[in-house]
Amino acid sequence: MLDQLEPQLTGVPRTMLMTTRARVEEDQRSDGIFHDPTVAKWWQSLVWDSELDPLFSPIAQLSWAVRAHLFDQIAQRHLAKYKDAVVIELGAGLSTRYHRVGQNCRAWIDLDLPEVTRLRQQLDRETDNHRPLGQSVMDFSWMDELNSEDPASLLVIAEGLLMYFDVNQGQALINRLRQKFPGATLAFDVVGGLTKGKSAKALAQLNAPLKWFVKSEQDVAAMGVSLVQVRSLIQENCRYRDRIGFYRWISWISNLPPLRNSSLILETIA
Ligand SMILES: C[S@@+](CC[C@H](N)C(=O)[O-])C[C@H]1O[C@@H](n2cnc3c(N)ncnc32)[C@H](O)[C@@H]1O
Repeated sequence: MLDQLEPQLTGVPRTMLMTTRARVEEDQRSDGIFHDPTVAKWWQSLVWDSELDPLFSPIAQLSWAVRAHLFDQIAQRHLAKYKDAVVIELGAGLSTRYHRVGQNCRAWIDLDLPEVTRLRQQLDRETDNHRPLGQSVMDFSWMDELNSEDPASLLVIAEGLLMYFDVNQGQALINRLRQKFPGATLAFDVVGGLTKGKSAKALAQLNAPLKWFVKSEQDVAAMGVSLVQVRSLIQENCRYRDRIGFYRWISWISNLPPLRNSSLILETIA
């Protein structure tokens, strides 16, 4: 049994405790969308930050679990297609995707800021094909760490990350990736104007303000990537009718652009 770890995180890094807890709770459900014994084990050593309680509702938990599942599917398809796939998760937090679906890749890197990477290093085990990297995503030197002969075999995942950067930073990341790894897959999520409400205010109070909002996936396509697949998180949540309870009525209007585009999971080619 590990010692109790009380993450002393602030700003955006602090938010990863919520997405981590969402996966723990998913693992505990008998009807869970996925199982994640690794994160459940890590959670026994982590101390929850109760100031995050107001942001952690059952609907938020479901959304983060569904989002994780959608990114898992993208990773699984990529790994099935490319025998020598290299995967990097940007802003990985305590993502356990490698353990859930990624172990047969050639290389998998979990990149996050040094304070989060230090926490991961106390919980996770490095292997020949899996390691953490502690640096900012905006310091593009991480691209030099990727040894991928065929750029198309590279999968870059940014789950719950790019909305914390402004559009110019998003564009800079896309430009650099296209320059260095043309044909690589970039999977990420974006948020729409509807998210500017209560949760955005609570995030801003945590010093983790959302900065980049899109009208639709066309805003992203205009930045120079090709869209492969677009999923609306609200529509995906509506598949779990028994779990959304009162919000079931939203499924009737989830095609309306502000709702559909409130959170989109995009698989793109750089
Ligand atoms: C909402 S959390 C998502 C974590 C993880 N992807 C998940 O879904 O569980 C956002 C993550 O982005 C990381 N992050 C924020 N700014 C970053 C930066 N400049 N470079 C690398 N990671 C960053 C935070 O530390 C945090 O772990």
